[in-house]
Amino acid sequence: MPELVVALDLPDAPAALDMAARLTGAVTWVKVGLELYTAQGPSILAALKGMGFNVFLDLKFLDIPNTVRGAVRSAVGAGADMLNVHASGGARMMQAARQGLDEAAAPGTAPLLLAVTVLTSMDERDLPLAPGRTVADLVLDLARATRDAGLHGVVCSGHEAGAVKAACGPGFICLTPGIRPAGADDDQRRVVTPARAVTAGADFLVAGRPVTRAADPRGAALSLLEQMRQIGVK
Ligand code: C5P
Repeated sequence: MPELVVALDLPDAPAALDMAARLTGAVTWVKVGLELYTAQGPSILAALKGMGFNVFLDLKFLDIPNTVRGAVRSAVGAGADMLNVHASGGARMMQAARQGLDEAAAPGTAPLLLAVTVLTSMDERDLPLAPGRTVADLVLDLARATRDAGLHGVVCSGHEAGAVKAACGPGFICLTPGIRPAGADDDQRRVVTPARAVTAGADFLVAGRPVTRAADPRGAALSLLEQMRQIGVK
């Protein structure tokens, strides 16, 4: 069974820790993104890890290779269990990220290092694609480049996870945000249901607002987990 990661896109530590406390025992992974990390810094990782969670630090590094290498070292030092860069930073940047990971992590304990292919909030309308090229083509090209650079996997939508697994191998990790119960409508564009993401072979599913904005966040997380078990349901 893949893991459900709840995105704690909340303004400060009290709000995030309150939400995390509601989710204790229901999920094992939480995600710290730009909003929360910018407000609180590395101490929020220590607090969440102290509550027993694995933490995905979702800062999507994109910069010159030397800068990203240092940023990855810092993220490892902050205690991230999973972290990411943008695949569009190129092969040398991703190789530098991998180098930073290996420099900072003790042997055998390295966090998972992923690369974002194409944000799940984007589709054909948002990208300058050459005629005949699809978002899926771009995702696959970036996934192959990520694998060749020695990273553990990619962030992509559930629409592409099956093709990424087929192209890069079953051990290559697919983390899929844009998880929505049927009928939801917001800024995310390449969305799939939990069952469809699992059927496509995703290893991690990320959901934020469907959980954190629910009247009962714990119940919403448990409902998503239940839907993840309904493999084959569209
Ligand atoms: O609230 P929602 O479920 O849309 O949250 C999705 C989370 O996943 C957000 O924190 C967003 O930053 C992140 N994310 C994404 N698409 C990516 C990578 C990360 O939506 N490709």
